[in-house]
Amino acid sequence: MLTPREVFCLESERLLLRDWKNSDWQAAFEYASDPEVSKYMNWGPNTERETKAFITSAIMSISEKPRLTYELAVVLKEEGKIIGGTGMRLKPEESKAMIGYVFNRSYWGKGLATEAAQRLVRFGFEELNLHRIFATCDAENLGSANVLQKCGMRREAHFVEDMMIKGRWRDTYLFAILQREWLARSGASTS
Ligand SMILES: CC(C)(COP(=O)(O)OP(=O)(O)OC[C@H]1O[C@@H](n2cnc3c(N)ncnc32)[C@H](O)[C@@H]1OP(=O)(O)O)[C@@H](O)C(=O)NCCC(=O)NCCS
Repeated sequence: MLTPREVFCLESERLLLRDWKNSDWQAAFEYASDPEVSKYMNWGPNTERETKAFITSAIMSISEKPRLTYELAVVLKEEGKIIGGTGMRLKPEESKAMIGYVFNRSYWGKGLATEAAQRLVRFGFEELNLHRIFATCDAENLGSANVLQKCGMRREAHFVEDMMIKGRWRDTYLFAILQREWLARSGASTS
């Protein structure tokens, strides 16, 4: 069994989204050290040390009570390999959360980020009963914008040159979806 019972784990058709373990750092380093992967991110490419620090902080957030941060390793079930990471940060006072994701370049273009993001959004709305889930992406990051649209999110804002990333001012898009919109889309119910 890949995950002991106490480890948080969400499952989708091809993926497991589960808590990070210290022994996962090499799989995370494989993509976090790739300059193409971190091109639009406010971090990276990461060193081994930075990758281990990320895993340590992800593991620390597991014991938050209540838990406000879900940083999860994305495991491709077929290969038993960690192919990326995804995360959700809750703002319980506003009943909302922000999601994000990053994948190993060898696994891009197979619908896997969409599958992971949709699973996280489902968890947020159907299990945590959140009101709103949002995400931001660099306006040039077409892949990420597509993932968010495929989650049913609406583009609500275009912030002009609001982020300085890797020496260049970047525009940012903000995408969001409400719980009622998700439920109407998926045909699910909270009751
Ligand atoms: C953005 C990222 C997560 C997309 O992952 P992915 O698994 O390739 O995404 P999907 O396969 O689910 O693609 C979703 C849609 O976007 C499209 N797409 C993916 N990458 C694209 C790109 N670079 N340009 C244009 N469209 C793209 C796909 O074709 C798909 O649309 P389709 O189903 O109509 O064909 C991945 O490229 C990545 O990890 N990038 C680096 C980290 C990053 O930018 N994270 C997001 C930070 S906001």
